[in-house]
Amino acid sequence: MTDLVRLEVEGGIGTIRLDRPPMNALNAEIQHGLVAACREAAERRDVAAVVVYGGEKVFAAGADIKEMETMSYTDMVDHSALLQDFTKALAGLPKPTVAAVTGYALGGGCEVALACDWRVAADDAKLGQPEITLGIIPGAGGTQRLARLVGPAKAKDLVFSGRFVDAQEALAIGLVDRVVPAAEVYATARGLVERYVGGPAYAVRAAKEAIDRGLEVDLETGLEIERTLFAGLFATRDRATGMRHFVDKGKGPAPFE
Ligand code: HXC
Repeated sequence: MTDLVRLEVEGGIGTIRLDRPPMNALNAEIQHGLVAACREAAERRDVAAVVVYGGEKVFAAGADIKEMETMSYTDMVDHSALLQDFTKALAGLPKPTVAAVTGYALGGGCEVALACDWRVAADDAKLGQPEITLGIIPGAGGTQRLARLVGPAKAKDLVFSGRFVDAQEALAIGLVDRVVPAAEVYATARGLVERYVGGPAYAVRAAKEAIDRGLEVDLETGLEIERTLFAGLFATRDRATGMRHFVDKGKGPAPFE
């Protein structure tokens, strides 16, 4: 365990809090901590959804360049698996996730945000993949998830140039979903996922898996994934509760567990 990443649970929402001032640079300790926090958030029944937050000033300015500077090729062959593990752990979290982006989300920090289902940004936030300026490329999924999110032309613009985009441009190209005043970022992000607390958790989990896995395969295979997950939900209490609530003409949302 590390103090640099904490899972704080309140009101059914888990906040994965990055806490390594001044820039939340992602060193190996914080990368391991992220994997552990994601695992804990996935397992805990009192966590329905997750907000990733770096505090009021900065989301994360990327991998720790000072740590990486002395690494050799063989060091990086070993370390690069971890770089992808922490964003994979986040992307694979079977619950809704949202990044609450203040200040900078650069390099690995932008890749953390990309691994969430949605991104809320402060109106003065800056996002980007500046790795090219260090003579490298994004290594925590940035070339893949950014291109899938904003399309190949925009992804190439950002990755080839390393330029930062401001919140308004990020919103226009679909890199973020909401832009709000900096002081409202965390509350807005929580608000986006609050609806999932006390909701049909297995159906949400199946929906996320169907969409994410489906995006990686041909339509026929995607439909097969959907079919299997759809049928599987008939084994859940949520499915029985939801349908019975409708048939009984229940008022308001169904009383899911
Ligand atoms: C290590 C970092 C850092 C980083 C900032 N710092 N970013 N240290 N790794 N990624 C440190 C600075 O060295 C400085 O330390 C302190 O934080 C404050 O930063 P300043 O540069 O003085 O602040 P400012 O002028 O406000 O500029 C902020 C900034 C800039 C625009 C965010 O720091 C910056 O460009 N950072 C690097 C961004 C980047 O290239 N990220 C990609 C990293 S590679 P001292 O000791 O001098 O006070 C990457 C690869 C991904 O992410 C691979 C998978 C994870």
